Amino acid sequence: MFYPIQILCVPLRPLRLCGENRNLDSTLRTSLPIGAAPASFLRMAYLEIRNLEKHFVKASGGMLSSKKETIKAVDGVSLEIQKGEILGLVGESGCGKSTLSRTLMQLIRPTAGSIVLDGENLSLLSHSEVRRRRLDFQMVFQDPYASLNPRMTVFSTIAEAVRQRHLKMKGTELEKKVSELMATVGLDASQMKRYPHEFSGGQRQRIAIARALAPEPKLIIADEPVSALDVSIQSQILNLLKDLQRNLGLTMVFISHDLGVVHYIADRIAVMYQGKIVEVGPAGEVFHSPKDAYTKRLLASIPKLRSA
Ligand SMILES: Nc1ncnc2c1ncn2[C@@H]1O[C@H](COP(=O)(O)OP(=O)(O)OP(=O)(O)O)[C@@H](O)[C@H]1O
Ligand SMILES: [Mg+2]
Repeated sequence: MFYPIQILCVPLRPLRLCGENRNLDSTLRTSLPIGAAPASFLRMAYLEIRNLEKHFVKASGGMLSSKKETIKAVDGVSLEIQKGEILGLVGESGCGKSTLSRTLMQLIRPTAGSIVLDGENLSLLSHSEVRRRRLDFQMVFQDPYASLNPRMTVFSTIAEAVRQRHLKMKGTELEKKVSELMATVGLDASQMKRYPHEFSGGQRQRIAIARALAPEPKLIIADEPVSALDVSIQSQILNLLKDLQRNLGLTMVFISHDLGVVHYIADRIAVMYQGKIVEVGPAGEVFHSPKDAYTKRLLASIPKLRSA
């Protein structure tokens, strides 16, 4: 795909920071060369991730040792996502997928690099602004049972998420909004006063998806959203997400360790290995003619896993 930004915009320098992003703001403000056009004047990808790093420093060598070990969970990731696109992020356990998604959501701040969503550089925002922008990112997790509050009805769960964006919405207007969201994900609105344990696994994941849609996010990150579901239910949820992309123009990062699942749902696939993106391209291309040796290994492991 052709992205004018690659030609027009001089990329930001990767940042090396001490501790939790100290001086990130001032460093980023000076990282565009003099005379470069402001980002808002350029046609950018909807989400631009540039040289993103998240390193964890851990003590190693026992309690009495002062030795430190650096885990490079995300190690120089650059990715672009277009509006309305589903990007599949695939890689083995521990390669850094969830750390990348938590960094995107600003739940943890990057060690270096930049994240630009819809023309806004999130790395330049203050902590309180970051908290507000978190509404633009919503997550769908692997286990809907664990991610839903068992003491809250479906109505309370979804209404709470709606009110994050529409603070003053209440009464019949709120109830109508919750009903609409339930219908959007294929749930019967007459069941809104029920609790999560009264639903099946697939229905619970639908509730979690409705809750993610409720604050009208710009990006949904689904971290292994079908891995905990029965195979027959998996395809229903995948088809629902595809329908939402078609009907609502949903932009999504879909994370999975299963290249087959990602190939089914994603427009493009990014393959992650040891904190780095080793291959990215159209889903069909990556799945049918992978270029990187690790992608080939990942592909070869699919039949073995399925026949095990
Ligand atoms: N808070 C943390 N402190 C130290 N190390 C961490 C922390 N969070 C993640 N890591 C390490 O970062 C690496 C990447 O972890 P991450 O959870 O992102 O992997 P993943 O690709 O999501 O794996 P999985 O498929 O099993 O969910 C792992 O080595 C993990 O141990
Ligand atoms: Mg993970």
